[in-house]
Amino acid sequence: MYPHNVWYVAALAREISATPLARRILGERLVLFRTASGNPVALADRCPHRQLPLSRGRVLGEHIQCGYHGAQFDAAGRCRLVPGQSEIPDHAAVRSCPVRERHGFIWIWMGDADLAAAADPAPICSFLDRGNWGTLDAYIHIACNYELINDNLADITHTEFVHPTTLGNESMRAARGELAPESSSIPRFEANLVDGGMNFRLSLTGTRPAPSFENAYRRVRGLKAGLALDFQLEFSFRAPAFWLFSPTAMKSGTPAAEGVSTSGLILITPEDRTSSHYFHKICQSYAPEVEAETRYWLDETCRAFDEDKVVLEAQQRNLECDAGDASAPVSFRGDWMGFQVRKLVRAMLAAESGQPRLLESGAAR
Ligand code: FES
Ligand SMILES: [Fe+2]
Repeated sequence: MYPHNVWYVAALAREISATPLARRILGERLVLFRTASGNPVALADRCPHRQLPLSRGRVLGEHIQCGYHGAQFDAAGRCRLVPGQSEIPDHAAVRSCPVRERHGFIWIWMGDADLAAAADPAPICSFLDRGNWGTLDAYIHIACNYELINDNLADITHTEFVHPTTLGNESMRAARGELAPESSSIPRFEANLVDGGMNFRLSLTGTRPAPSFENAYRRVRGLKAGLALDFQLEFSFRAPAFWLFSPTAMKSGTPAAEGVSTSGLILITPEDRTSSHYFHKICQSYAPEVEAETRYWLDETCRAFDEDKVVLEAQQRNLECDAGDASAPVSFRGDWMGFQVRKLVRAMLAAESGQPRLLESGAAR
């Protein structure tokens, strides 16, 4: 259903504080909080005494106190205090999941904790370690399976129809090999399999990029009305559901380095089989100190992703209704990237099912 031995995003770093946050990840109920020393913690959200969610309690120093009878648990999930008695039952513990804070996200490992240390929590975010970036982030809950979101992100042909005022227009027809109406040359499209994912690049010359990109170039670099631009869209997918999009608009015939470019991270964490956490961070380095520029991109992408949410949730509802309908879905030419992405996720699931080290849900560590 979903790989477990992966660092997923549990929360934006700014969501985690001394106020406990209840969140379900891979179907498991967790409480997320920050201790007095600033460390993020993820515990099973269920007190072993009478099963009250620990998220109904409060953080006291390095512990979380259950809101029912006051038992306290440390960051490792061990019970450290039972009010009114000196002995603590041996099995008074809850599962603690490994967490890391990096690049403004709280990453969580839901699988075999022994494998966590050797895995990099955020390889797709490593570009943020180089250069100076202005960044803003946001979180959306989407009531659909995470693979529908992968399908959506692998399919830029939908942008013409779902995001006509922001991220899409006719130029995106290039993704299915068509010449856009105002394009002056054949689009170049490259896709390469890499370890654990795929990289794509779409290059258009003498075109009219989608509104968000054209408006940004016009504002930042100045653009005479009717002047065609070159447009390049690079994007990377890393299984199971991590995406990095880097669009650049530039004056025709000039290098991409002289254009206006952004990078958008989209990191999906399955909540369960039919719902997902959608974390995104917009990053720009052409004016990193100008928050209004970063805010522009966050607003444009939030508008577009809210449009995707409407589509994705309606799809999921239809899929639930049609669970007994065996008819195969029709495929179009533009679906090929989505098929590749699904293959990569299947390969990851198959590799993981070959190793019998997954923890039982709720097991204490
Ligand atoms: S239910 Fe948590 S201490 Fe009793
Ligand atoms: Fe979209």
